[in-house]
Amino acid sequence: HRLVVLISGAGTNLQAILDAIAAGDLPARVTLVLSNRAGAPGLARAERAGLSTAVINHRDYDGREAFDRAMIERIDAAGADTVVLAGFMRILSPLFVGHYQGRLLNIHPSLLPKYPGLDTHARALAAGDAEHGCSLHFVTDELDGGPLIARAAVPVNENDSVETLSKRVQTQEHSLYPRVLRWRAEGRLHLTDQGVELDGETL
Ligand code: GRF
Repeated sequence: HRLVVLISGAGTNLQAILDAIAAGDLPARVTLVLSNRAGAPGLARAERAGLSTAVINHRDYDGREAFDRAMIERIDAAGADTVVLAGFMRILSPLFVGHYQGRLLNIHPSLLPKYPGLDTHARALAAGDAEHGCSLHFVTDELDGGPLIARAAVPVNENDSVETLSKRVQTQEHSLYPRVLRWRAEGRLHLTDQGVELDGETL
């Protein structure tokens, strides 16, 4: 199962995926790590693992579709059974999302449908939520609104800051992404007209 991973930043989710592959827990290989930022620390992780990397800077393109078209070309040349958004901080056009319909996954740091968009940890703290977490979903045109695959919850503690809370959530992200990708790699997880299907059952 060929994965292409898209990043913009630290790449700790990418690292968790690479670690799971190395440990034999994820029967997949990463054919390309693509970043829109040349300085993304995640690129160094990819290089350390001997993977192909590419940088496609959105600033070099005239508009979202031209940028997305350049990414599609690169991703398809690498070969992707699943395209993994792992801290990729650009909004993708309907062109891109449509092209990878059913094989495009994203992780979002909130218990969706709560808190789509940015600053999720601060918003959960401000709301006084007792619980927070992360969600894995298929990507559709609605921002952070695609069909949910799985969520992982953590408690919010009284003295939590954005840092302590986001760290707790990230630990969950790092086990959730490899787990869900394993379902994909084993051919158990699909997006159908009925919604998300896992092991032949619609969630
Ligand atoms: C994660 O919190 C993810 O949920 C969000 O961006 C962050 C990426 O972190 N979409 P990393 O680059 O994987 O370390």
